[in-house]
Amino acid sequence: MSDILVHTEDGICTITFNRADKKNSITAAMYAALADALAAAQDDAAVRVVVFQGHEAVFSAGNDIADFLNTPPTSDDAPVFRFLRGIAQFPKPVIAAVCGPAVGIGTTMLFHCDLVYAGDNAAFAMPFVNLGLCPEAASSLLVPQMMGYHRAAEALLLGEPFMAEAALEVGLVNKVLPPSEATNYAQAVARKLAAKPMSALLQTKQLMKKGQTALVLAQMNEEAAHFGRMLREPAAREAFGAFMEKRKPDFSKL
Ligand code: COA
Repeated sequence: MSDILVHTEDGICTITFNRADKKNSITAAMYAALADALAAAQDDAAVRVVVFQGHEAVFSAGNDIADFLNTPPTSDDAPVFRFLRGIAQFPKPVIAAVCGPAVGIGTTMLFHCDLVYAGDNAAFAMPFVNLGLCPEAASSLLVPQMMGYHRAAEALLLGEPFMAEAALEVGLVNKVLPPSEATNYAQAVARKLAAKPMSALLQTKQLMKKGQTALVLAQMNEEAAHFGRMLREPAAREAFGAFMEKRKPDFSKL
């Protein structure tokens, strides 16, 4: 069974993280599959809406740490950057159904979705600093815009998780539901959108996003340059090593 499932029916392309044993953490191969699925959905006139989902217990634990250590993204064409550019510029409506942990890119990809429905067990976290890294997916731009600077500093400098209700309060989530209902609810909203005139959806999204897209892409590029460098530096090596060895990292000399 593939780690990324793609299923299109009645105008809705549903993309499912399907690696539950590793908490749906995302490898380079999975990023490539995500980027390809988005490109295909963009070109396919039969697709009117995209839905991202994980499982009832976990959305995604973010980058696969071992895979990131072994094959860090080194160029603009790296699958993770292809996926991020793809979702940031995706012209059709994108919905996410999020239950359980949504860590790192599991949270930051949501800033590029149009509608987000969360299970009440959803726990969002952007622990880049705790990993010796900096934010990605233009989250260093979009989180302060959405939450205000001080709450953004709490989320990005402290990197502590926040739950679904807090995400609802800051506007990251549209609605909080029991975890067993989140994916069905997202599908019902997707059916509503799929029944609307496509040209009006596309034009409306383009108008809402147009002032921001160039800024978002520029911020992503700048973040990516720092992120790529920091991945090879001692703080990230210590954080990732500690995760693999199931111990607390020691940043006292870094
Ligand atoms: N990369 C690689 N493997 C991961 C992973 C990740 N990001 N997140 C979880 N896993 C693996 C664990 O190593 C473990 O594998 P094992 O069974 O072979 O030991 C398995 O998934 C289950 O993870 P575990 O930590 O035991 O689950 P949990 O329910 O206690 O906690 C999380 C879930 C998501 C809170 C926790 O796994 C976590 O914090 N993961 C790291 C998140 C992260 O820092 N991501 C990087 C962002 S850039």
